[in-house]
Amino acid sequence: MAKTIQAIRGMNDCSPTESPLWQWVETQVRDVLSSYGYSEVRMPIVESTPLFARAIGEVTDVVSKEMYTFWDNDEQLTLRPEGTAGCVRAAIEHGWIYNNEQRLWYMGPMFRHERPQKGRYRQFHQAGVEVFGIANPEIDAELIILTARLWKKLGIDQHVSLQLNSIGSLEARANYRSALVAFLEKHQALMSEEEKERLIKNPLRILDTKNQALQKVLDNAPKLLDYLDEESREHFAQLCDLLDSVGINYEINPKLVRGLDYYNKTVFEWVTTALGAQGTVCGGGRYDGLVEQLGGHAAPGVGFAMGLERLVLLVQEINASIPLKNAVDIYLVYHGEGTALRAFQLAEKIRSALPQLGTMLHCSGGNFKKQFRRADKSGATLALVIGESEMLNHQVVVKHLQGGEQQTLDIEQVIDYIQSQF
Ligand code: HAM
Repeated sequence: MAKTIQAIRGMNDCSPTESPLWQWVETQVRDVLSSYGYSEVRMPIVESTPLFARAIGEVTDVVSKEMYTFWDNDEQLTLRPEGTAGCVRAAIEHGWIYNNEQRLWYMGPMFRHERPQKGRYRQFHQAGVEVFGIANPEIDAELIILTARLWKKLGIDQHVSLQLNSIGSLEARANYRSALVAFLEKHQALMSEEEKERLIKNPLRILDTKNQALQKVLDNAPKLLDYLDEESREHFAQLCDLLDSVGINYEINPKLVRGLDYYNKTVFEWVTTALGAQGTVCGGGRYDGLVEQLGGHAAPGVGFAMGLERLVLLVQEINASIPLKNAVDIYLVYHGEGTALRAFQLAEKIRSALPQLGTMLHCSGGNFKKQFRRADKSGATLALVIGESEMLNHQVVVKHLQGGEQQTLDIEQVIDYIQSQF
């Protein structure tokens, strides 16, 4: 036998038994977004590399070590590691931002060359939202409220919690950065080589270190919230008031800074303890400088993205009552001269009259015993049987595969009968 070829590490197939759950989760996401009046956009999976370097930041983990980048003749291209940069690029390119404010969403695969483990993959899927043109905190609140509604619909609301922070203006962050570096320089003995490098390149990321000794020291480090500019402070206070007014619980986490450079003011993450180390199911925040930074006229932006693999895992672990539909409801078996034609005609008639049902034709021959085995395996509710005598008498035998009983119907009665059974 020839040697088989396997999928790339960290890139998963979705099997026919897994796809109904994925479809159900995606439908809940789409339904919630459309109930808030948001519109779908679709962007290419490949973009020019400098887009990500400029938007996400050269020194972030994503850009400095996780991107799938290649040359296409003399142009450097990258498989998108996230959706915000491409969405802002498209919004500038097509003038989406300036016609009026926009509330947009997208869903699709993203690529990061990370070390694969449960909940962390090299190809993963995000559902993301980006809102352009609204500067006030009401929209930050709407995004958080919208996600909270989704968690309820998915049945996971008791297992996720909201972490909130404000990282202020660029200037406030620069002031804070100096204070943090001055503090951390005294504790370099506790740091790994990687953390020492971060201290120079991206010191705010040290705040979410897993190094326990350093974590302890960080309890006494300067707090970002103390360095906030007045406008960011006011924005954050209003956001907290709005969330309080609708009963959304949150924890203010002064160490939450997020791993991408474009944020300012609000940042947030929804986290769970039910998935082990990869506990962040959704993250986002405000990025008021990004549109201008990528060459557009200045316009505020805010958004988030959720990891669909993590949501599917969480739903699997927690919500046992998902109404998943079997792909096949009716299975047609037939045997004997001329029966195939009759079965094809009947199947098409059922599909026209009852398009919500899955009607499967056997197609692969064999005796009735073999065909019934397949029908049982399909999980269908009803088998419709056409043999030579049914052919001649314009009849169909209807068999309840779960209960076993069967009856013979005139072919004209079949549609009404099926309808009465679902
Ligand atoms: P992010 O935090 O990098 O933000 O990713 C958002 C979510 O994608 C994470 O919370 C996680 O659930 C999921 N995710 C990220 N990496 C992986 C991975 N390797 N495997 C599985 N899931 C993963 C962003 O991407 C921003 N663009 C969010 C945003 C939109 N901010 C503003 N607008």
